[in-house]
Amino acid sequence: MRQPQQDFIEITIMFFLINLMEILFTHKTMKQLNIKQILMIAALIILSGCNQEVNEDYMIKKENFGEQDGKEVFLISLVNNEGNVVKLTNYGATVVWLEVPDKNGEKDNITFGYETLEAYLNGDPYFGSVVGRYANRIADGKFTLDGKEYNLAINNPPNTLHGGPGGWHSRVWDTEIIENNDEVPIIRFSYLSPDMEEGYPGEVRAEVQYSWTDDNELIIEYKCTSDKKTVLNITNHAYFNLKGAGNGDILGHELMIAASKFTPVDENLIPTGELKPVEGTPFDFTSPHIIGERIDDDYDQLKLGRGYDHNFVLDNKTEPDAMVYEPESGRLIEMTTDQPGVQFYCGNFLDGLEKGHGGMVYAYRGGLCLETQHYPDSPNQPDFPSTVLEPGKPFESRTVYKFSVK
Ligand code: BGC
Repeated sequence: MRQPQQDFIEITIMFFLINLMEILFTHKTMKQLNIKQILMIAALIILSGCNQEVNEDYMIKKENFGEQDGKEVFLISLVNNEGNVVKLTNYGATVVWLEVPDKNGEKDNITFGYETLEAYLNGDPYFGSVVGRYANRIADGKFTLDGKEYNLAINNPPNTLHGGPGGWHSRVWDTEIIENNDEVPIIRFSYLSPDMEEGYPGEVRAEVQYSWTDDNELIIEYKCTSDKKTVLNITNHAYFNLKGAGNGDILGHELMIAASKFTPVDENLIPTGELKPVEGTPFDFTSPHIIGERIDDDYDQLKLGRGYDHNFVLDNKTEPDAMVYEPESGRLIEMTTDQPGVQFYCGNFLDGLEKGHGGMVYAYRGGLCLETQHYPDSPNQPDFPSTVLEPGKPFESRTVYKFSVK
């Protein structure tokens, strides 16, 4: 990332260097230097130190990606000091591209995305997007708050899924690029969701901040406030395939989730209300297991979910909360969150027809999601942690996906 002050520092250093050369060429000893020349040498040493602290190679590019709802849509590329790239768009506050090396240093994009805004508008609505106001399902699209029933838009009959058809994945967010010297830049997307949008009460101001660090951490921070009591559950729906997005399925990936319980579901994928211990079930990922190892077991929850599509009740005791490793590429994700749950979804509803970047086909079970969240259907489940958002009490949360190799 080039900073104007960096140019100034470099010009100043050049000036001092010229003077230093003059001193050297005239073979002056330390004693013969005048006070001005001594000060110049001292300033040179200090300035070259300052210059090293500036992020030399970090780059941010903001390009036009089209227009939607009368607003400009951008494609923002972040290239960290390691040359690894994350691309974001303010359409749906979406992660478009995430390029990291494998164990041989070969870089590839490992998340599902499209090349054009048009493809986003016509394609799968949740590739890398932020989902809200309520991530995952609310049974029958209804909930009651302070004795009043709210009816939501139904888009996954008989339920509401991911905030309804016009959820936050489909909105154009405002974009700010926040650059601070020596700190990793922040891309802040914000959206003002009107009262009763998709049937939810309260005007909600949502903010999602992304940063992409030199340690290959994608940090996502959420902040939401409401002017009326409402419900809220916000997450990011990125699909990962550590072999490279479009390179087959994720059944050979190894997964660890630090969750001793999960929330079993009914035939409509609505939690039954039970918090079931994972021990002795194919849902025990407390130590690493290959995803495909038990996915076809004769186990009712796997049948109901068509595979894994469940909320895991995080122990929230150790870090990371989840880990994904792919042996061929050596790529690893360590995921850490402050949320009480994570939806592990392994793309059971992907039909293999979607084509993304470079025409790559995103296969059935071709990507996995670790959607950090509150539990699905919490507004109708009194024993689940509350998802009520009260005026004056902002919701704040943070999730980090760290990418490396082993
Ligand atoms: C849900 C799946 C759903 C998918 C849609 C996931 O969060 O758990 O049931 O099909 O989102 O992309």
